[in-house]
Amino acid sequence: MNDKLILAIDTSCDDTAAAVIHGTTVLSNVIASQTELHRPYGGVFPTVAKQAHQENIERVVELALKRAGVGTDKLAKGRLAAVAVTQGPGLAPALEVGIIHAKNMAKTHKLPLIAVNHIEAHALSPLAQAKRRSGINLSLNNQRREIVFPVLSVVVSGGHTEFIVFDEIGTYTVVGKTLDDAAGECLDKIGRMLNLGYPAGPIIEHFAKQGNPNHFKFPLPLTQTHDYNLSFSGLKTYARNLIRDLGGVESLSRSDLYHFCASAQNAVFRHITYKLNKIIQDVSVREVWLGGGVAANQELRKMIKKTLSDFVKTERKKGKADYPNIRFRAPYTARLTMDNAAMIGVVAGFKLERGEVVKDAGELDRRPRWEIGEQ
Ligand code: KG4
Ligand code: ZN
Repeated sequence: MNDKLILAIDTSCDDTAAAVIHGTTVLSNVIASQTELHRPYGGVFPTVAKQAHQENIERVVELALKRAGVGTDKLAKGRLAAVAVTQGPGLAPALEVGIIHAKNMAKTHKLPLIAVNHIEAHALSPLAQAKRRSGINLSLNNQRREIVFPVLSVVVSGGHTEFIVFDEIGTYTVVGKTLDDAAGECLDKIGRMLNLGYPAGPIIEHFAKQGNPNHFKFPLPLTQTHDYNLSFSGLKTYARNLIRDLGGVESLSRSDLYHFCASAQNAVFRHITYKLNKIIQDVSVREVWLGGGVAANQELRKMIKKTLSDFVKTERKKGKADYPNIRFRAPYTARLTMDNAAMIGVVAGFKLERGEVVKDAGELDRRPRWEIGEQ
């Protein structure tokens, strides 16, 4: 029997990840984090990442198969329909490890190989579903029927910040993206200035809960431009100057630190929601999805939901009484916001349905700068 399970692998950055997926249902989602290894560098160090991926990949893949109830010995019996792997974007030495492993698995078990774009995976991550106790839930078709297009996907991670609009799964238009740092990168850099440790995003979220977001007046970037692009480098510079003007990080009181985190986080998210609001004014999207590491942040989710409901309210007040709600979707667990392979498997499921498998698996090469929407 072919259960159409997909084994997915992601080694695009600093996490070694493998998962088993059925349709959009996550059967296992294993992530070996390298955060501790990279902490001394305050960022990801590519050669360290590659070595750690090489040490972890076999164990991580075996664990994902085991947790999904697919023993490696049963692979050959046909429960797996395909092997999927992140082809890009990402760090070239890191991507290579996952691709080599996926090629070997596909060859050994005579399975098709599916190449997935990591940003597409973050964009579709809100579609992933938890396993039901009663077993596999045959949800792929149901999920897709439920989607009302056009969809706007907001991908906010440590490496990318993009607005992606689509009328169908698999065909994407990037309508705006950051011109410099990514939102997560900006939070991490501000956190570094505050000696918060790496990655700083979750710590800033925690401290921000105890501070006043309006205490320090951060600027709102790119309000003069008419496009939907973003820029975070000005906020970073503003933060650096503000710390200096306050007498250096050592002289910040505990409450100043909380206010600083709340104000900086608010500025980063206000910039995103300001541009989001501009897009929904111009394009009548019916759903807004959020993915990427920063999507774990509850305040960002709250601010996006408010932007959507305020917009709908205003439209109705303007006379369009039956203006439809804009549905908001985000990943059901934080493990789907960070880098993971379950989201790679979700994309692979759609690709397999469309017959988009790699023609010559042996020749598959990494694409470190692969943009979503680019063939
Ligand atoms: O998607 P991800 O795991 O890796 C990339 O592909 O970049 O994203 C990591 C980023 C880091 O910048 C981290 O600080 C940020 O996501 N992040 C958060 C939160 N959790 C992770 N930022 C804000 N709030 C959070 N709760
Ligand atoms: Zn990512």
